[in-house]
Amino acid sequence: MLTIAARRRDRLEEIAHDIAAQFPDIPPPVAVPCDVTSAADVSTLIGGTVERLGSVDILINNAGVSVYGEMRLTRAKDFCRVMSVNFFGAVQCMLEVLPFMRRQDSGLIVNIASVAGLHGIPFLGAYSASKAALISTSQSLRAELAESGVNVMIVYPGYTDTEIFEREVMVGGGRRPSAQYAPVDEVAEAIVRAIERGGRDLIMTSRGKLLSILRGAAPAVVERAMRRIAGELRDPDEPRRDPEES
Ligand SMILES: NC(=O)c1ccc[n+]([C@@H]2O[C@H](COP(=O)([O-])OP(=O)(O)OC[C@H]3O[C@@H](n4cnc5c(N)ncnc54)[C@H](OP(=O)(O)O)[C@@H]3O)[C@@H](O)[C@H]2O)c1
Repeated sequence: MLTIAARRRDRLEEIAHDIAAQFPDIPPPVAVPCDVTSAADVSTLIGGTVERLGSVDILINNAGVSVYGEMRLTRAKDFCRVMSVNFFGAVQCMLEVLPFMRRQDSGLIVNIASVAGLHGIPFLGAYSASKAALISTSQSLRAELAESGVNVMIVYPGYTDTEIFEREVMVGGGRRPSAQYAPVDEVAEAIVRAIERGGRDLIMTSRGKLLSILRGAAPAVVERAMRRIAGELRDPDEPRRDPEES
């Protein structure tokens, strides 16, 4: 049985309806409007799910927002927003679900991080920081839970074709790379396969895999590459765009 949560009730209901139509043999998903930056919302989400189902087998922390552009143009407000959704939102959900999973001594927490959390990426200072924080916390928790039946999986997607870019705050000073965006279904299916085979770390692109090796083995090479990317993408004419301000 599936519970899905996000802020927009209409989109949630639409998605719940689509899933129910596609998988008529399983109970339809329950859609719960929830802002992960609200402790009360998260408590209602997890508490209500446990009450309804008796347990939570898998928690997927997927909520995420992004800010793109030069650090010197990024405001503290932008940092707070990204950290509060991508990091503290996931932390809040983990803290809320852990007592239940510990009591049943089983469960899986899947944290959707990013390749951008493996190393600070130019023009993604706030986003990279939020994902690096999520990765560290996931690793701490995983070690603490080693003797229990509760597992933590970290997923590191690369660029994926989703709505995140439509709602991203562009602070200016840099343009997006013309990267290849993976189809969202492909990424979702790879995550499901990794869950099924009990994976722990899923780095989803060859560049991500290379970065995870080189950042330890050859940090100077990574630093040179990051400097080159910053030079290529720097664009003083790139204006600030903030969907929430328009
Ligand atoms: N797309 C990429 O290239 C890429 C690469 C690496 C990692 N990721 C990560 O993948 C995850 C999914 O992102 P996506 O690319 O699929 O973007 P997306 O389509 O914009 O999905 C983000 C989801 O987060 C929800 N959300 C945002 N703020 C929220 C909040 N405060 N409370 C609850 N839900 C919230 C959004 O729904 P509402 O707005 O209705 O709340 C939306 O359903 C994110 O963690 C993202 O950082 C994405």
